[in-house]
Amino acid sequence: MSVPPLKIGPIEVSPSLILAPMSGVTNRTMRALYKPFGLGLTVTEFVSANALKYGSKRTMEMIDQHGLEKPVSTQLWGDDPLTMARAAAVVRECGADIVDINFGCPAPKVTKTNGGSACLRDPERCEAIMRAVVDAVDCPVTMKMRLGWSENQMVYVDVAKRAQAVGVRAVTLHARTAKQFYKGSADWEHIARLKQALDIPVIGNGDLDDARVAMARMRDSGVDAIMLGRGTLGNPWLISQIRDLMEGREPQPAPSQADRLRFCIVHYRTMVDELGEARAVPQMRKHVALYLKGIAGAATLRERMMRIDRAAEAIGVIEETIRRLESSPPVAA
Ligand SMILES: Cc1cc2nc3c(=O)[nH]c(=O)nc-3n(C[C@H](O)[C@H](O)[C@H](O)COP(=O)(O)O)c2cc1C
Repeated sequence: MSVPPLKIGPIEVSPSLILAPMSGVTNRTMRALYKPFGLGLTVTEFVSANALKYGSKRTMEMIDQHGLEKPVSTQLWGDDPLTMARAAAVVRECGADIVDINFGCPAPKVTKTNGGSACLRDPERCEAIMRAVVDAVDCPVTMKMRLGWSENQMVYVDVAKRAQAVGVRAVTLHARTAKQFYKGSADWEHIARLKQALDIPVIGNGDLDDARVAMARMRDSGVDAIMLGRGTLGNPWLISQIRDLMEGREPQPAPSQADRLRFCIVHYRTMVDELGEARAVPQMRKHVALYLKGIAGAATLRERMMRIDRAAEAIGVIEETIRRLESSPPVAA
């Protein structure tokens, strides 16, 4: 199966494979590290439109896209059309190629102020936000949503049609309701239904952690692109395997456990170089835990990592694990 590039307005996304926005994860370092595996587009962590009014150093760092990977989409959340429009103009000025609107986040700290997935309780408000953002920028605007607030309020087709009508250029659907958080599984039947209902591109998202299954989901739902989140963490080779399949090649085999850990060290060192040790070490704990998945003794190693607060020591433990793996026969995961 050869997959055509995704067009988001004038922007070509090739391959049609997108890294999901993940707060606390998809910072600039992580995106730059994972992009070469074969991503056509990356999305920032979500940024509060309200927080942009104050322009803290951390927020400005999140939206500064100058000199970084291209194309890149900056995601905004908020419930007020005017604030969202102003924020969109700022992120565009700071180098975003695409502005993405978040109607999907189920976290209480976001929904209690009516942001993220809570917007889906009021499709008219969603429309007003989207219209204001589209009018505020000269680049494509996209939107990422869940199915609705709850099982009884599945508004995704309605909100996506409103998006299309006001000039949003593509819609991503994570096929769970907000109430579900991450429970159960993403229902790709709904993604297929949305694809049937829209003329603008639809991007399918949810539970893709195997290359062949991802391709089957893409084919069966008819979506224009797929978005990968948790499945890539500790396993960026999922991206290259899907890219291979999209370009009509047999996927490269997964790397050995030792090679996976060698890449983990590269990831660790890059984070320390770019963020400094004090910020990198706590952030890397979750990544290291994921790179260790399936390795004998991973639980003990993860626990050890939790107590380490120096990068050199953490990297030493990973190097020691590589030596152990290479001096003993492979152990089944
Ligand atoms: C740690 C974490 C942070 C996330 N942060 C965001 C975010 O900032 N914006 C957003 O739209 N979705 C966010 N999501 C949701 C993902 O983008 C994605 O929709 C979801 O994880 C389902 O895809 P997956 O099954 O491939 O992980 C986050 C998910 C995780 C696990």
